Amino acid sequence: MSSLGSPHRATTPCQPLVRPLAEIPYDPGMRARRRDSIYVHGTTRREQARLGMMNTLINDRALGLMDIRPGEWIVDFGSGLGQITRAFARAAGRSGRVVGIERSPDQLRTARRRLRVEDGGARRAPARAPIDLRLGDALDPPLAPDEWGTFDTAHTRFLLEHLPRPVDLVRVMVRAVRPGGRVVLQDEDHDILRLFPEPEGMMEVWRAYIRSYERAGNDPSVGRRLVALLHEAGAVPRRCDWIFFGGCAGESRFPTLVENLARILEGAAAAIAATGLVSGRHVRAAVARFRAWSRRPDAALWFAVAWVEGIRPGRGSGRGMD
Ligand SMILES: C[S@@+](CC[C@H](N)C(=O)[O-])C[C@H]1O[C@@H](n2cnc3c(N)ncnc32)[C@H](O)[C@@H]1O
Repeated sequence: MSSLGSPHRATTPCQPLVRPLAEIPYDPGMRARRRDSIYVHGTTRREQARLGMMNTLINDRALGLMDIRPGEWIVDFGSGLGQITRAFARAAGRSGRVVGIERSPDQLRTARRRLRVEDGGARRAPARAPIDLRLGDALDPPLAPDEWGTFDTAHTRFLLEHLPRPVDLVRVMVRAVRPGGRVVLQDEDHDILRLFPEPEGMMEVWRAYIRSYERAGNDPSVGRRLVALLHEAGAVPRRCDWIFFGGCAGESRFPTLVENLARILEGAAAAIAATGLVSGRHVRAAVARFRAWSRRPDAALWFAVAWVEGIRPGRGSGRGMD
């Protein structure tokens, strides 16, 4: 037994704090009543640092799957701090074009500052596509009439999970690309998280976190629906994949993965407690135990991001595309 004590208290005599996810009643009416996104994570500096951290963990694999060609025109919906948006621009090169659309002025300000820092006041134009970061709602994006139907690629990551009707955004994305252009969706299926050996209390908190999405009328399992959303929005699904977002003791990225998850739960503690399934104190205690758990030599965290690609029907002339 490690000095951290028993990882598993499945035999504790008290009542489970939460019911299994499948037993939690779902309120589809909430979705019908609301169209806009509820973004639970916020935009504090700590949360922005977490978002940046998360990008460093999964962007390389995402970019590998995207296989962006020189000259591509790309629009990124819910571009956040613009980390992957900038990576798109580097991949598309000077002849490409990248637009990022973000609703939060805080996120946009930080994204623009990071862009300036990255360019480092260079006298020569940077070796990437020009990036236009715009303030606006992804569901009603600030695109000029003559920009619709011109992009080669429309991308969104971690925004569909915050929308009550994610198909609305996918329809916007299909309209934004040219015939033959592609729509790339990346999002989470929270139900797949596995921690082993299981740190005490963490899965109860995780299930309550999932429940907080449902209470807001959002879909915490949107990842598994991404192909269906492409189809429903009029795109032709072409590929689906997972981006591994896990790791284990002994990997250099493991502490960052753990910190990402810990901060997500800390940041959403109020929303989690509002479900009535666990208290704020329970969240803090479970997250503290989770951090301690991560120092075990046998700790493993299994998670992944769902990734899909679909094509807008019709033939069009692609820039840098097949
Ligand atoms: C989890 S972050 C992901 C950012 C970025 N896509 C990434 O993967 O790093 C989601 C972003 O979507 C933004 N957002 C939420 N609702 C939005 C909306 N309706 N329109 C545009 N952006 C939105 C949030 O402000 C936040 O910056």
